[in-house]
Amino acid sequence: MTDKLWGGRFTGKAQDWVDEFGASIGFDYQLAAEDLEGSLAHVKMLGQQGIISPDEAHQIEAGLHDIQDDLAQGKVEFSVANEDIHLNIESLLTKKIGPVAGKLHTGRSRNDQVATDFHLWLKHRLPQVLTELTDLQQTLLKLAQENAEVVMPGYTHMQHAQPISYGHYLLAYFEMLQRDYERFEFNQKHTDILPLGAAALAGTTFPIDRSAVAKDLGFDDLYHNSLDAVSDRDFALEFLSNASILMMHLSRLAEELILWGTYEFNYIELADSFSTGSSIMPQKKNADFAELVRGKTGRVFGGLMGLLTVMKGLPLAYNKDMQEDKEATFDTMDTILASIKVFNGMLSTLTVHADRMAKATENDFSNATELADYLAQKGLPFRQAHAVVGQLVLKGIQEGKALNQMPLSELQAASPAIEDDIYEELKSKTAVNRRTPVGGTAVKNVLNEVKRGEAMLSQRKGGADGQ
Ligand code: ARG
Repeated sequence: MTDKLWGGRFTGKAQDWVDEFGASIGFDYQLAAEDLEGSLAHVKMLGQQGIISPDEAHQIEAGLHDIQDDLAQGKVEFSVANEDIHLNIESLLTKKIGPVAGKLHTGRSRNDQVATDFHLWLKHRLPQVLTELTDLQQTLLKLAQENAEVVMPGYTHMQHAQPISYGHYLLAYFEMLQRDYERFEFNQKHTDILPLGAAALAGTTFPIDRSAVAKDLGFDDLYHNSLDAVSDRDFALEFLSNASILMMHLSRLAEELILWGTYEFNYIELADSFSTGSSIMPQKKNADFAELVRGKTGRVFGGLMGLLTVMKGLPLAYNKDMQEDKEATFDTMDTILASIKVFNGMLSTLTVHADRMAKATENDFSNATELADYLAQKGLPFRQAHAVVGQLVLKGIQEGKALNQMPLSELQAASPAIEDDIYEELKSKTAVNRRTPVGGTAVKNVLNEVKRGEAMLSQRKGGADGQ
């Protein structure tokens, strides 16, 4: 027998470096609070069910509370020799209360224990993700309202396409974040399930009361198949997948902010507090934080790919491979919370150069569709209208003038259907405001969508601010 908690059938001892390779305490110490919480619920139930005596249950509970206090005061030291957070806490408990500590593990295995801890860990943190997302959405709504009238070029293929409202642009991100919110909200459903009671894989012979434990820990449901309970990591995969989509969204926004802050665009300027300088070039003001979010998207995608790959070939039920589920999940949580916060700060402090944005739509050809639509409304088949305007655009490019700089006679030579009212139609503001069907960029639509967004946020638990 060796001195491990599972050492009964062992005579040979592993070298320290081998122990270190197998250990997870280096990262799963982050489950300490949840491990204690799960153990407290378990031992309470063991006592209530008469599986252990009331006195034994009290001793164990007192010991676990003691460890909770020590943890809060930073007095707990974990050791690699004890492999993981579960064995570390059991060993601390044994030091505190003696051999009765060994009764805590009755009717339980580390397999359902680690799954429970991990579920609890995510269950505790998803609300924070929802709160941060709500805050960012709130910021986008506020900015969309303030900037509804700001006109900018809309792009396809990164070429000027049609003028849009900057507020409308911001609301596109609001919508993406709304879907992110809904995905993380749903993520809670599959996280809110109790694995404890599955024991190693087959359930237990002890007369445990799983519903009581679920209720005590605030779980909505419990796993109904013990094999599934200990081998399911879908809740973590869903989290990583949701986080990946969220980061993809933030990364696209990051890319645009970086681009728009360049000398060439100069549509926006990031606040000094969200920019950095260069150690050699005194003039530089870099969008480091937007770049970092774009960069961190890589590690979040990596986490998802990593865990999908870990899980894909695993036979039921628990396999030690699954110890690899934690680091990326922990890291992803830190990464997304920080990234959402950074974006909130960056967006609410940047300066919008509305004049630059508007100017970019004045002498370009992003109003060409307006002229084509105008001719189509006058009865010309759209394809023909498209060809007429195409020729005018070519002429404009050759002669260096925009459509609205061409005299009426010149426009009429291309199509006699064009009248004096065309100059109003060619203004980018007019182009924006004529797009009134739902989803279009007209200013009044933007303001309506802001209202709709606010109503959505205020329906959230506790309202938009106090979730
Ligand atoms: N440290 C392990 C993990 O994180 C805990 C479960 C270990 N169970 C086992 N039978 N070895 O997955």
